Amino acid sequence: MADWYTNFANSGVGTTITKQLGLPRPAVLRRYEPGGPLLPGPAVIGTAGDGRLRDALARVLAGADVSVLPAVDPDGEKPAAVLLDGTGITGPGQLAAAHDFLAPAVKRLRPSGRVLILADPPAATGSPATAAARQALDGLVRSIGKELLNGSTANLVLVPEGAEAALASPVRFFLSGRSAYVDGQVLTLSAAGVPAGEDDERPLAGRVAVVTGAARGIGAAIARVMARDGAHVVAVDVPAAGESLAGVANEIGGTAFQLDITAADAPARLVEHLRERHGGVDVVVHNAGITRDKLLVNMDAARWNSVMAVNLQAQLDITEALLAADGLLRPDARIVCVSSQSGIAGNRGQTNYAASKAGIIGMVRVWAPTFAERGATINAVAPGFIVTEMTAKMPFGTREVGSRINSLQQGGLPVDVAETIAWLSQRGSAGVNGQVVRVCGQSFLGA
Ligand SMILES: NC(=O)c1ccc[n+]([C@@H]2O[C@H](COP(=O)([O-])OP(=O)(O)OC[C@H]3O[C@@H](n4cnc5c(N)ncnc54)[C@H](O)[C@@H]3O)[C@@H](O)[C@H]2O)c1
Repeated sequence: MADWYTNFANSGVGTTITKQLGLPRPAVLRRYEPGGPLLPGPAVIGTAGDGRLRDALARVLAGADVSVLPAVDPDGEKPAAVLLDGTGITGPGQLAAAHDFLAPAVKRLRPSGRVLILADPPAATGSPATAAARQALDGLVRSIGKELLNGSTANLVLVPEGAEAALASPVRFFLSGRSAYVDGQVLTLSAAGVPAGEDDERPLAGRVAVVTGAARGIGAAIARVMARDGAHVVAVDVPAAGESLAGVANEIGGTAFQLDITAADAPARLVEHLRERHGGVDVVVHNAGITRDKLLVNMDAARWNSVMAVNLQAQLDITEALLAADGLLRPDARIVCVSSQSGIAGNRGQTNYAASKAGIIGMVRVWAPTFAERGATINAVAPGFIVTEMTAKMPFGTREVGSRINSLQQGGLPVDVAETIAWLSQRGSAGVNGQVVRVCGQSFLGA
């Protein structure tokens, strides 16, 4: 399923009409299918300078049964992914090698292909020339993302010295259909102990995962994807949503737990529930969120306070309670906080919402080292325009413009947000901590 316009533009009559009128023709994105291959074709790996990750990359691809082309052949098989190890780049002169590899390779990239560049963090050097060259890759990747057609994406992973062991999970994510709507992103890894031998089909097997706001929309999609990946999901929502919450929980074999996360006793009740029923918790997804839009000058205290209470204060209070509850939060726990593009770019009529969603980013960054000490992680996911009941109610023009102003020319689906959250929840994603991953199709807002 895609949005209505993408479906129309890819139908027989729609293709003809959009071509004749010169209208955008968004691609049907390649999304994850359990049991399917990681990539629908071979990859090609290039280096610029004397990179240190080529072998590690080759091992990740071999482990995922992805074949690697020896080189790009203008008449040969087309790559489904183009990977560049840019860790050898020490000055602007070597960027030409990146260009020399990428230009012909990207030209041959298949539809829904992937461009993934690996590099050292620009700040991890005392040399201005080296930092300049590394930072240049950021602009390069973002521009490639904007040039690619046919549902392809381009992303950058910064790998500091010592974080090489954490590489496999992000590489697999960015190549797979799980990252269909993640485009133009820059992720910085940190060194972390990564467990070996995770089950690729059910990476969350045996994990207990709490998802707030799970009765509908993005939360219900998160609950479904986490259950598909093997987790036992504790689906949380307000009592008023009890019926649909029970529906979601029954469908996925999870547990429904009615809770208003803003209630004074909500953290204590959740802690008690998890201790009694499950003895602990592995994953917490803070997804519940509300909007109460008004221009700042017209915004009353109730609108401001309610949005802050649900979107920000409840995430802080519940996370604090989980950390304080002795032994409850398992050592390799994963916390994922749902932020928003509004929290990065700001949005007219959403001072309260954008402030709450930006606050989440601040919270995650400062909490990350505390979580790392326990072998755990905390990250934020910032969705862009996602096709939900909420966005379906927007006026037609606003909705159409809002959903097209990104490199993929379409709105994302709740499952796209869910796949990213499920990936961050994997044990293998131990090296992704304190990061903000936008699921926005490389939105032009706040980029
Ligand atoms: N839809 C989008 O395009 C979009 C974009 C960016 C961010 N987001 C964020 O994604 C998250 C999910 O959004 P959605 O579109 O699915 O929203 P939604 O309104 O469809 O669902 C939100 C759920 O949270 C629940 N909830 C609200 N207050 C609660 C409380 N006090 N206690 C427990 N549950 C509560 C609601 O009952 C509802 O089931 C939100 O945090 C939202 O801000 C959405």
